[in-house]
Amino acid sequence: METVEAAHALYRKSDAGFVVSVGGGSSMDVAKVVAVLAAHGGSVRDYEGIGKVPGPVVPTVAIPTTAGTGSEVTVFAVITDRQRKFKMTVGSPYLVPHVAICDPELSLSMPKSLTAATGMDALTHGIECYINKVHNPIAKTLALESIRMIAAALRTAYNMGTDLQARSTMLLGSTMAGMAFTRTRLGNVHAMSHPLGAFFDVPHGVANAILLPYIMEWNLPFSRETYPHIAAAMGEPVAGLSPERAAEKAVDAVKRLSQDVGIPERLRTVGVTRDAIPGMSQDAMKSGNVLVNPRPTTYEDIVQLFETAY
Ligand SMILES: [Fe+2]
Repeated sequence: METVEAAHALYRKSDAGFVVSVGGGSSMDVAKVVAVLAAHGGSVRDYEGIGKVPGPVVPTVAIPTTAGTGSEVTVFAVITDRQRKFKMTVGSPYLVPHVAICDPELSLSMPKSLTAATGMDALTHGIECYINKVHNPIAKTLALESIRMIAAALRTAYNMGTDLQARSTMLLGSTMAGMAFTRTRLGNVHAMSHPLGAFFDVPHGVANAILLPYIMEWNLPFSRETYPHIAAAMGEPVAGLSPERAAEKAVDAVKRLSQDVGIPERLRTVGVTRDAIPGMSQDAMKSGNVLVNPRPTTYEDIVQLFETAY
């Protein structure tokens, strides 16, 4: 939030008529909210939630250098409120950047750990959008294709960062996943990863990647029809398998990909402490993402999922 305020102060001092962001999701999200403040005044908290932005904002150009959050095409901005230790969401159709310049050459120098974390974030967007309760055939089609592209390219992008083809597939995949979930929201992984970032500064993609297999396993009884398609999109041989076994293959494929790109398996290895689980669970329940998760979710469920991933 302080970054948004500082950037907004700079904007006001300048003669600028639009905002350009170059960077990852946080940079783009800051620019999106600066554009809101520039047009409508007030403070960041005034716009927390969905649909609070009253009208058009100053034009924005988003240039992603990761692949990624998909923020260059989404209606959301996630801003950390350090006073409340809370990652708040600002959501409005007016937030979608006016121009997105997706150039994979800008992602060639991403280090391996960032490639892994941001790539797994994009995969999580595709998977959570594909399995959640919001039925939207266009979003689901984009989501499934994004899963296919990310699963095909992430290992190469991670192991050989200068491979332009892999970087290009990753960027396109992450942008498509953004176009998908901007219409549907996500699920419990994102509901739970935001407090992990707010409480412990766990990078967003790492938090998602650690949580994803545990939450996929927990969602499995409510995702028997969707998981076999995810498994197939990720290259798993599912022909001839029972629907149950084919569904399990989706979880296996995610676990293997996560391991191959060096994602740790447990929250305790990334600085999370167990005593924060009740507080983080309360904040997770405030997220609209819980409502669209395929399996109905209570506070106790979130506590148990944090415990399992811990
Ligand atoms: Fe994300």
